[in-house]
Amino acid sequence: MTASWCEGNEARILAGVKAYFIQESWWGHETPAEFTLQLIDCGDILEDPFAGLLLVEIDQHGSRKPAHVVPLIVGIEPVNAATDSHAPVICSVGDVAITDGMHDARVMHALRQAVHTNTALTLEHGELLLHRHASVQGDPGNGDALEIHTESTNILAIMGTEQFKIQRAVEWGDVIELTRIDALIQAGFARMPRLLGWIEYRRTHEERTLVGILSEHVPGSHTGWEQARNAASAFAKNPADTLVEEFESSIMAIATMTAQMHDAFLTTPTPYHKAVRASQEEVAGWAAVMLAGWDECRSIALRAGLDISEAMDRTVRALYEETAAMTDVGMLSHVHGDFHLGQTIWSESRGWNVVDFAGDPVLPLEVRNGVACPLRDVASFLRSLDYAVVGQLHERGNRVSAEQLDEWSDRLHRLFWTTYMQHVHARWALPRTDVHAELVFTAFQCEKACWQLSVELQDRPEWADVPYRFLQRLTRARDVLHQASVPELSRPESLE
Ligand SMILES: Nc1ncnc2c1ncn2[C@@H]1O[C@H](COP(=O)(O)OP(=O)(O)O)[C@@H](O)[C@H]1O
Ligand SMILES: [Mg+2]
Repeated sequence: MTASWCEGNEARILAGVKAYFIQESWWGHETPAEFTLQLIDCGDILEDPFAGLLLVEIDQHGSRKPAHVVPLIVGIEPVNAATDSHAPVICSVGDVAITDGMHDARVMHALRQAVHTNTALTLEHGELLLHRHASVQGDPGNGDALEIHTESTNILAIMGTEQFKIQRAVEWGDVIELTRIDALIQAGFARMPRLLGWIEYRRTHEERTLVGILSEHVPGSHTGWEQARNAASAFAKNPADTLVEEFESSIMAIATMTAQMHDAFLTTPTPYHKAVRASQEEVAGWAAVMLAGWDECRSIALRAGLDISEAMDRTVRALYEETAAMTDVGMLSHVHGDFHLGQTIWSESRGWNVVDFAGDPVLPLEVRNGVACPLRDVASFLRSLDYAVVGQLHERGNRVSAEQLDEWSDRLHRLFWTTYMQHVHARWALPRTDVHAELVFTAFQCEKACWQLSVELQDRPEWADVPYRFLQRLTRARDVLHQASVPELSRPESLE
């Protein structure tokens, strides 16, 4: 698939790719109704099996999102032979069939070999690096059968003990997942699957993007989300069930791992994004965004007929105002960026591990790429925990009340928070006192819950009660506390 062949057939290739995207609902339910494609680059990656990369830019009409780059790993075969590979045919051009190489075991195994042997390829407009991480040594072997898992944002090709995560759509400059994993490796953090290598496309220094990551596959693992849902279901039948106790131990283990991850991010020797102290203007900016989020949430809720009491309104505003008034909220560093129960995996051999450092896909790239307060990770994790536990109230056959689920969720929150605070060594990086740390983290949680309530009321009204119940609990808890004002302490010079 030489560049000149692609250029000669560009219109036919793009029409075929577009039809394939629509037919396969390439982005799941998010496949845009109207979009145009433009070919950025194409070229051979391998000669045998014959595989290439098609890099196209997708422009979604009417979308506020910038154009995305879609890296397509394709197999190229004579039309007659293509049916043997079992990979879906994207389109045929003359007597050549372009297949979806992600579903072709031969292509994926060969790509893996190319990563292990550090292959750099010059394409028509840029360079493709299939790179092995410096720590990997020895022969990778052949791996076993290929298994494909597809998600909306990427495809996971599993080959025995290794896996490729190939992005479905990325932006120029989007290499944050690699940067963060590398930062954690440099800091000696071991609670994640081992990075083996990556595929990167570079057109210019700024125009570079991560096509995929090759890492160790942890066999027989389950996610924290699965364990939480099983535990919530067991709790609903019998709060004394052993699964409940086991899950509480898991929460402590995950909280400890979270503290270790943040310690590593705060002390990493990586040159990217050194930790910096949050300025007061920055914090005031967060509070303004939080307040705007609350105003929007409140009006959506009122329109939906939900009772937003004066006490709730007062509580949320006071929480944000107190946060804005803080003179020191600690350091901003790399963070996980999209931390929730589904990003933690447990296996017999490794215990808890954390995965997926690509950041929150709903945030713009410059935000995902930047530094943030580590307590945002804690807040977003606890929101997912609340969904797993309180979401149980939607199931049938529960023997406990919604209030008991609320109480258990609160208990798990406290367990996570106290374990995290006990284990984080870089205490200097967090707000100065425990009271201040809790205030900031509660504000982040509240912000996330408000956003969730707005989104649920619009998209899944039956789920709105989960974030709403959280806001009610927050209102009750802070009403009790509220009269005890939070002392603002300035940081002694020696700690600067
Ligand atoms: N190294 C791994 N070993 C085993 N399972 C994994 C591994 N990495 C990811 N997974 C599983 O695949 C799911 C999706 O992977 P993830 O990296 O979180 O991508 P995304 O959420 O962006 O689709 C995870 O929730 C986890 O269940
Ligand atoms: Mg994930």
